[in-house]
Amino acid sequence: MSFVFHNLRSGAAAVSSDAQFAQTVMEGLSGDPKRLPSWLIFDDRGSEMFTEITQLPGYHPAQCEFEIFQTYKQTITDLLGKTEFRVIELGAGDGGKTRILLEHFIQHQLTFDYVPIDISEGAIKNLVAFLESKFTQSAMSVTGLAADYFDGLRAIRQQDNRRNLVLFLGSTIGNMELPVAQQFVQTLCESLNEGDYVMIGFDLMKHPKTLYAAYNDATGVFERFNLHVLDVMNRKLGANFVKDRYVQQGQYNPKTHAVESFIYSTQAQDVSFDVLSKTFSFGAWEAMQTEHSYKYTLSEIEALALKNGCRIVSHLFDANKNFVNSIWEVMA
Ligand code: AVI
Repeated sequence: MSFVFHNLRSGAAAVSSDAQFAQTVMEGLSGDPKRLPSWLIFDDRGSEMFTEITQLPGYHPAQCEFEIFQTYKQTITDLLGKTEFRVIELGAGDGGKTRILLEHFIQHQLTFDYVPIDISEGAIKNLVAFLESKFTQSAMSVTGLAADYFDGLRAIRQQDNRRNLVLFLGSTIGNMELPVAQQFVQTLCESLNEGDYVMIGFDLMKHPKTLYAAYNDATGVFERFNLHVLDVMNRKLGANFVKDRYVQQGQYNPKTHAVESFIYSTQAQDVSFDVLSKTFSFGAWEAMQTEHSYKYTLSEIEALALKNGCRIVSHLFDANKNFVNSIWEVMA
């Protein structure tokens, strides 16, 4: 069995993703209010910090998804049957939850490919190396791709007619604005074959106090995670943010149905960006939004599936129904 890694973000692709990063920051900081999308945080260090978050007992989205995978690993195995299949994971990170499934498939002697895709090269390299160290004797082949999701999907598409199960876990879909999530699901379903499965992790709407607690931990991990976007801009764009002049807080907004994270500038200050040849001014206590975690209802999830030509196969909930892994089948 093979364990390989490919970087699709090198050369021309790397230049275009750097340009996309620069353009996104330029647009986000030129707006009023200033607003940056959360994907900017995910360099190798940002990805490691998010892995730390998934291990916090108070961060329910990760804990619920671990529970769901433990409870339903046989249900998912039964769904896939005994013929060879491929598991593709978009935004795999450290692959922690998926490992529960992979180990279960291996114990049941299934033959399958696992294709983790992530924009963080470090995360994917580590994941492939880890899986190789643990599972060389299994009937699992691993192809890790450092790539944007759809570049990765295109690269493996139509290799054969095996059934695909695409995983998009961790409520990452909640970090997309609703029209972006709709476009993402549409592109995803269009790039798959009839009969393929998609499993998406959605954090469900719940008591706003529970949401507040989940995104404001006492040890400051979330604050450090969100402030990391300043480090990434310093490194990639030659900016001169001084991190200890900023603080962060997350709060649920009933108008947008999302937990929104803001970075506040504690004083009036200018920040210059060498790569953009531009200086941006921040007022004292000016807020800049850096994250948006949309909380879904079940009917919104079902509407999203149906609108994109998918049949709901199953909703897998944790015991408290805080979170759902929704499995869909792509129809013709
Ligand atoms: C990556 N994403 C799914 C996380 C979320 O819950 O929106 C990011 C996060 N931010 C603070 N804690 C976790």
